[in-house]
Amino acid sequence: MKNIVVLISGGGTNLQSIIDGCKNGTIHGRITGVISSSRHAYGLTRAKNAGIETKVISKYKYPIDADREAALLDALNEFQADIIVLAGYLSILPKEIIAAYRNRIVNIHPSLIPSFCGDGFYGLHVHEKVLEYGAKVSGATVHFVDEGTDTGPIILQKSVPVMDDDTPEALQQRVLVVEHELLPRAVELLCTDCIKVDGRKVILKEEGEGK
Ligand code: GRF
Repeated sequence: MKNIVVLISGGGTNLQSIIDGCKNGTIHGRITGVISSSRHAYGLTRAKNAGIETKVISKYKYPIDADREAALLDALNEFQADIIVLAGYLSILPKEIIAAYRNRIVNIHPSLIPSFCGDGFYGLHVHEKVLEYGAKVSGATVHFVDEGTDTGPIILQKSVPVMDDDTPEALQQRVLVVEHELLPRAVELLCTDCIKVDGRKVILKEEGEGK
């Protein structure tokens, strides 16, 4: 069984979808730790309720970049991470960690990449921009993490319609439903070695064909 470490900064509904997947057997892996960049993140409570070990590695606790990065690496080693999931994690991962866990770090983004992504596109801003632009569809993307912002190879995407009378909050909720479907699926594909990466292309094997 693969060890999953989930990195969060906020509410942790995506973390919850992985906790639930591991519990109900749709994910063949176990969460060995949750790391938060904020001690106020409600996701920490979700992890504790599920009996999962947590660590807070924040700018407040480790103001010096090198110390914070070392703490993160130590935590990933301690949790014996095979797979790292960024589930609403708002900090930048150090290059050393990205290189050490190449094609083993996934991120969920609340738009159809390569639209409405990159620097400054996080949280409600993403959905505000989609509405401002007048796009007719939005959606969610799970992708591997590389050195850029939201630039890694795409694993799964699903669209949702944009309604004429949408508010950013309403669109966010519609996209979140899809996020909670895609992220556990992507984690399961990784846990069962059903993902092959060929340059920018990600080829998904049917379940059961892994290994
Ligand atoms: C999600 O919309 C995710 O796509 C984005 O941040 C949000 C986190 O939500 N990266 P939650 O903390 O998982 O509820």
